[in-house]
Parts: sequence; C-alpha cells; structure tokens
Amino acid sequence: MHGLRQCLLILDTIHGKNSTGMRSLKRNRHHFERIRCSRQVFAAVDTAEQKTKHLEIRMNFEFQNPTRLIFGAGSLFRIGEAASRLGKKALLVTGGGSVKRSGVFDRTVATLKAAGVSIAECSGIEPNPRITSVVRGAEIARQEACDMVIALGGGSTMDASKVIAAAVLYDGNPWDMILHGQEKWHIPSEALPLITIPTLAATGSEMNNGAVITNEETKVKSFLVADCLFPRIAIVDPELTVSVPKDQTAFGVCDLITHVTEAYCNGIDGTPLQDRFAEGVILAAMEWGPKAIADGNDLEARTQVQWAALVALNGWVHAGTNPMYPVHMLEHTVSAYHDVTHAAGLAVINPAWMRFAARANSAKFVQFAERVFGLKAKSTTDLDCALEGIDRFEAFLRAIGCPTRFSELGIGSELFETYAKDTLKIIHDADGKLPGRPAMSEADIVEVFKAAV
Ligand code: NZQ
Ligand code: ZN
Repeated sequence: MHGLRQCLLILDTIHGKNSTGMRSLKRNRHHFERIRCSRQVFAAVDTAEQKTKHLEIRMNFEFQNPTRLIFGAGSLFRIGEAASRLGKKALLVTGGGSVKRSGVFDRTVATLKAAGVSIAECSGIEPNPRITSVVRGAEIARQEACDMVIALGGGSTMDASKVIAAAVLYDGNPWDMILHGQEKWHIPSEALPLITIPTLAATGSEMNNGAVITNEETKVKSFLVADCLFPRIAIVDPELTVSVPKDQTAFGVCDLITHVTEAYCNGIDGTPLQDRFAEGVILAAMEWGPKAIADGNDLEARTQVQWAALVALNGWVHAGTNPMYPVHMLEHTVSAYHDVTHAAGLAVINPAWMRFAARANSAKFVQFAERVFGLKAKSTTDLDCALEGIDRFEAFLRAIGCPTRFSELGIGSELFETYAKDTLKIIHDADGKLPGRPAMSEADIVEVFKAAV
C-alpha cells in the first residue's frame, strides 16, 4: 500500500510531486499503470477480455483536499474565530509591506487579539521567497513558541509560511525539503497548523499542499509537496485584492490560466469533464480578468478571478489527469537566475511551449482553439487551427499587459543551455527528459526558449 500511496502522490495532484526524486518518473508512471490494473483486478475481473477492458479505463485516482474554505468579500473578520480553534499564539507571516499599507495587517491583528490569539511577526517575505526567510521564520516561531502559522499575503508569503510551518518541527536543514536533485528528498509528515489569507489572486497556494522556494546561493527555485502542508483553513476575501496593481493582477490571471493549461495539455487523454473544468476556468479568467485589471475596485470581477485562481490549483481540475508541469519547471529555473515575477516568466514560456507541444498533440490544441476561442478546425488534428488558437492566447496575454518575449524581461539567450541543464537536474524521466507531453530533451527546451527571445 505504501508504494501505491507514494505513486499516487507522485502522479495525482499538484506540481508533479514525487517522493524519491523525479528521476524515475517514467518508471513510476508504468508502476502506476500496473497499480491501476491491479486495482481493477481487485474489482473481480475474471477473464482476459474483461481485464483488457478494464485496462482501457484511464481515470483512476485518489483525491483529498482537507482545507476548510471560508470564501467571500468581508470574510477576513472570521480570522479570530478560526485561529482560536487552532491555538493561542500565531506566527503572522507577511510580505514586503502591502498589507500594512492597506490596513489589512492592523485589522487582522485586532481581530486575532479580540479572539484571544496573540502574534509573533515574521515580515519581509520576498516575491520568489527565499530559503533564508524560511529559516528566519522558523526560528522566530520556535523562540516565540507559536502553535500555528498565519500567512497573510500573496503566493510567496503563503509558500514561505507552509515551509516555515514544517521547518519548525524539523531538526535538519529546511532546504532538504525542497526537491533539488538531492539523493534523499525529505518530505515532511508534520507541520504546525496553517491558516492562509491570500491578498492576491494567482497561485492557488491558499488551498493546496505545494510550496515553491528559492535558494539564491545555488540558483535553484523548486518545490515541495506534502500532505501536511495543506492549510487547515483558507480565508479567501476578495476585498483584500482590490489594492493589487494592474500588472500583478494580470500576472495572476496568467498564472491561474497556466495552471489549468498544464493539466489540459500535459494530462492523459480521456478526461472530458476535466477538460470542461479547465476550459471553464480559462473562460472565466478571460472574461473577468480584464475587468479586474480595468477597475481594481470591481469587487465582482475580483471575486470571480479569485475563485478561478483557487479552483485552478486546488487539485480539482487536475484530478485524474496525471498532469506534468513542464512550463512551470522551466519558469522556475529562469526565475532562479533572474528573480522574475513568476507569471511574467510563464507568459513568455507558455505560448512558445504550446507551439512546440501542438506538433505532438495537435488534437488537444485544436480543442483548445475551438472551445476557448471559437475557431473552426478543418479536422480534429488541424495544426493551423491549433496554432491560430495559440496565437489568440498569446494576444490575450499581451492585451492584459503580460510580456511574451524574454527580451521584455531583459533576458538574453546566453544561458538557455544552462537553464535546460539545471531544470533536468531537478527533474527528469528515465530517458533524461523533462516530463510532459511530449517529454523534452535538453535540445527541445533550448528550442522552446529560442522561440521566445
Ligand atoms: O510583498 P508584498 O508587499 O505583500 O507585495 C506583493 C508583491 O510585491 C504584492 N501584493 C500582494 N498582495 C497585494 C500586493 N500588492 C498590493 N496589494 C495586495 N493586496 O504582489 C507582489 C507579488 O507577490 P507574490 O506573493 O510574489 O505573488 P504571487 O501570489 O504571484 O506568488 C508567486 C510565488 O508563488 C509561487 C511562484 O513560483 C512565486 O514564487 N507559486 C506557488 C504555487 C503554489 N504554492 O501552489 C504555484 C504557482 O505555480 C507558483 O509557482
Ligand atoms: Zn504558477
């Protein structure tokens, strides 16, 4: 059972998580196939004919998301009551100061105090949060004997908070928990209880069990996925996002769309409902994102975008698709070198990657072109139509203010091979390729980067 659980953990949910390093991902996928077969066999398959039939069933997965979600404008006031259920003293983690400028910090602290919860503060979490901040946060939490962590901020603050919550209970170096090509990946099994309060609609970190952390010294940005990182409670109040500037709002829209296109374009075939979920998220983001960008105080638009961002990566859209995340893996490496805003990097890499992937999987991109952009294909594998859909997608990203070329990020082509090698050091399948559909060799990765200069 342990092997089964590990394998499901690896392949089922967000960020292509893995327990023994991604090196053996392809082998694990085969292992998963075998497990799926045996699970069907448990369901009383007698004959070879029946067995074959069961082998054709593609969707077979486990799903769990234990986070209690409190959603809606004005819901920040629930923080006191929520926190008092979990403990008496919270480490309150924040970013570079936006929550102090907006008054959200003071409101949060006052509500906590009124509920009898005191705080220790860990401020200054940087975008692309660093492992040094995690170490600092864990030290404060230990010294102050905090019994819970509250993340008040964007994805960076939430991710740092997750790893802090686990690091407090881990005697080793917190970097052991981030996959970076090490021999033994320490996946934590315990963490302090965590409450997330997102102030930016983008990552979905508020209701998932992933975190992305940067090691500035070694130039690695990578992830940890562990069940103990699921927040106990997520208080998602779209009012907190009205102060997000236009560019960060647009990046959030790009990020959330990319989360579902990773599943949509890299997942297995035969997941029609998941496709519809993904298309729904994309269409909602394309409808409401521009409204939130045009008028940051449009609370209805903020609400719809925040809901889309949450749904895009809480596991639901991805369930059963066995997704891989090549675009994210590539962006993380570029970010590690240049500290670019996560979704600005995605906006550059995703369209270029899609054009590459459409050659191998044109049917999915034709479906994307038809259902998302209303194009009419000549056939189910009409590559021209697929490419036209990708052009429209790129045009949407440009229209909302995202960069779509490396030059706009001030990044040249000098280190393309290095990014490719570094990414493959963190994650590769049995053939040495980046998992995805199709799996990518070092040369493929460089080709995609070159298409986005
Ligand atoms: O730091 P402060 O002062 O709060 O300012 C932030 C920051 O400058 C600002 N901001 C946030 N809320 C605001 C606000 N400004 C005004 N008003 C508000 N209400 O926005 C800037 C960016 O914040 P950040 O937290 O970095 O953005 P985001 O939410 O996009 O998070 C990005 C990080 O999450 C990781 C990314 O790699 C990146 O490190 N990701 C995490 C994922 C996950 N855990 O599931 C999945 C994602 O794919 C992603 O990889
Ligand atoms: Zn992302």
